[in-house]
Amino acid sequence: MKRSSYCGDVREGNIGQDIIVCGWVHSRRDHGGVIFVDLRDREGLLQIVFEPENKEIFKIAEGLRSEYVISVKGLLRKRPKGTLNHNMPTGSVELVATQLEVLNTCPGLPFEISDYTETSEELRLKYRYLDLRRPNFQKNFIMRHKVSNEVRNFLNDEGFLEIETPCLTKSTPEGARDFLVPSRLHHESFFALPQSPQLFKQILMVSGFDKYYQIARCFRDEDLRADRQLEFTQIDLEMSFVEENDVMGVIERMLSRVFKNVLNIEIKTPFERMTYSEAMLRYGSDKPDTRFAMEIRDFSTELKDCGFGVFSSVISKGGIVRGLCIPKGISFSRSEIDELTKFVGEYGAKGLAWMKITESGAESNIVKYFKDEEIKTIISKLGANPDDLVVFLADEEKIVAKGLGALRLKMGKDLSLIDKSKFNFLWVVDFPLMEWDKEEQKWQALHHPFTSPQDTASLNKENAGTVKAKAYDVILNGVELGGGSIRIHRSDIQKKIFDILNISDKSAKEKFGFLLDALAYGAPPHGGFALGFDRMCALMAGEDSIREVIAFPKTQKAFDPLSNSPAPVSEKQLKELGVRVVIKQAKA
Ligand code: AMO
Ligand code: AMP
Repeated sequence: MKRSSYCGDVREGNIGQDIIVCGWVHSRRDHGGVIFVDLRDREGLLQIVFEPENKEIFKIAEGLRSEYVISVKGLLRKRPKGTLNHNMPTGSVELVATQLEVLNTCPGLPFEISDYTETSEELRLKYRYLDLRRPNFQKNFIMRHKVSNEVRNFLNDEGFLEIETPCLTKSTPEGARDFLVPSRLHHESFFALPQSPQLFKQILMVSGFDKYYQIARCFRDEDLRADRQLEFTQIDLEMSFVEENDVMGVIERMLSRVFKNVLNIEIKTPFERMTYSEAMLRYGSDKPDTRFAMEIRDFSTELKDCGFGVFSSVISKGGIVRGLCIPKGISFSRSEIDELTKFVGEYGAKGLAWMKITESGAESNIVKYFKDEEIKTIISKLGANPDDLVVFLADEEKIVAKGLGALRLKMGKDLSLIDKSKFNFLWVVDFPLMEWDKEEQKWQALHHPFTSPQDTASLNKENAGTVKAKAYDVILNGVELGGGSIRIHRSDIQKKIFDILNISDKSAKEKFGFLLDALAYGAPPHGGFALGFDRMCALMAGEDSIREVIAFPKTQKAFDPLSNSPAPVSEKQLKELGVRVVIKQAKA
């Protein structure tokens, strides 16, 4: 019996036809002498009816169990009145079986295959092949395929060339820890898996390929979160003879085409642009979620001479005071406020000053320290209403922004202020080129050290913190979807940047000398971008975690329960590689 149609594709137009379908028994119901089976394949479900008159196959149908693999031939008919299922695309038809073949059986399942299984992640990943049978997964991966197809078509149409770069290579300075691969032929030496194709795509520009792209696998040994995996996929591109706007234009056109052709959603271009400092001020984040307002406001000028010592002393020492208005609608209890204080404490805040807004002004333990005028300014600047809670942090800018930014997001979620139907795209631009690393006592590149400064001439060790980068991030609903920059294409300027970053000539030569050499041989001005493909697919599918759009992800603990990896290897393998494992003796 050769399949004539996918289960999920059968429609009323096929009524009266003989059809053959193959798939998995999703459910089986015995209805007083008639057996109903919902048969599932990647396109969906179809109801099969086994009538007792057909004794031979009815007997076989009685033995069917969940996830048996069968093929069925039958006559498609309209379902009788009153039995239509409007929640299912095939809900108005059913296949009356005339032939049945059992292709395989299946033992009892470790968990049920439905869309809403409450099962531990470990178990789901151990039996990932069963997990992936869930209709929602099938939908997600069909969508992921459509997205990559649209991306390729778009970039091909725009004249980009798809070129692969190596996975066994030298460490790329993207800021995470490298995965190392020992070399059998070069003992004591290691390859690194690429954190991104950054250096190679720049070299491809030096080679004259002009427009490159790759749907590239990247490897970063970092702590996993909902939007981070050890290996993930980037839509990576690079272009020659371009400015920021050219690269940003490609990304906007690509995203709008993908959203239109995959989800039938029109997204407005050009995307809104916000500077890094404005994003940090208004949203306390370099990836603001603009689907809800609840913006942060600065009070460092208005409250510098206020009577509340915590505020005035922080401001006099160069710190800042910022506030946030939480529109809960009903008054917060003291224990709820204590919870909020604990929450911002995790971000380094030393306390949380608060005021409950009332019809006549404000109430709290600190209101007495403020003049009526100051309270009025606070209320009007935050647009606060009676019963709202206004909170403040006073500290250095980084701690204030981080604490209030995190609190804003938490309250946005807790109070259901986020419109989940929105897709809010945003460019964040004008990032600082470098950041002072207090621990290491040196400048660090905010993006990567190949990013071009906006002003090269005036850049020096003293003013490095004030110079902006030609870098841009695209944000979707508070998630950093991707980032890129215009690169430094001259080796003299690259050297100047390394000097400021305290990367010695020797160390630069060792780490990425091959890029510096290449730049010296007539590198064109160039720039590019990388979009987190998994994050994009997760957001498009409405999933909270990228694990829902990656076929074989790792657990939160960086383990793969399906293949049981990482795992020890044989002595022989280690010997060939010249590697010895040092096992820490357990303490007696
Ligand atoms: P960046 O490091 O910002 O830039 O990475 C680009 C995008 O990749 C995604 N991403 C991740 N997704 C899942 N798991 C991870 N561990 C992970 N890390 C990053 C994010 C991020 O925005 N070479 C530069 C790009 C360039 O300058 O052209 C780069 O890799 O969505
Ligand atoms: P105290 O003067 O220590 O009793 O603090 C009075 C209020 O100010 C309390 O609600 C503290 O949580 C809050 N507070 C203390 N330090 C800070 C700070 N750096 N920023 C904001 N609020 C603070």
